[in-house]
Amino acid sequence: MEKRLQGLIEDFKKNEGNIISLLQETQEVFGYIPEEAVYRFSEELDIPASNFFGVATFYSQFYLKPRGKNIITACCGTACHVKGSDRIIGSLKRELNLTGEQNTTEDKKFTLEQVACVGACSIAPVVIINKKVHGKMNSDKMAKELKALKEGENE
Ligand code: FES
Repeated sequence: MEKRLQGLIEDFKKNEGNIISLLQETQEVFGYIPEEAVYRFSEELDIPASNFFGVATFYSQFYLKPRGKNIITACCGTACHVKGSDRIIGSLKRELNLTGEQNTTEDKKFTLEQVACVGACSIAPVVIINKKVHGKMNSDKMAKELKALKEGENE
């Protein structure tokens, strides 16, 4: 990590970079923005850590925690809620052994995200699996999708 952080810092200094592009590059390298990277940037570049955290939390494209290899995004908007998104999310959490606030599995293979309306209410409930939209989802269909993903992981 040390070497990669140093490379990002040097690029920033050389190119008079901005915080957003530094965070984007950091996320590209690590898959998320590690807290220790922010403190290191702050120290080396003499920019308050709060500036980095402010940007990282403002833009939804940034992640401050490691994410799983497979991203499952469940819509929790009103239309999806009415059509049973809670049941789908509940069964996903059980299948993935996610408890409390935890949204990424211990083995970092899956992350379950819950978002507001994704704009596809006519096919509610909606689940997005690795960027592919699945409409009219139910617990059985979800279980099959998850099984296929798990099998793919074990190949
Ligand atoms: S509420 Fe889920 S797509 Fe609109």
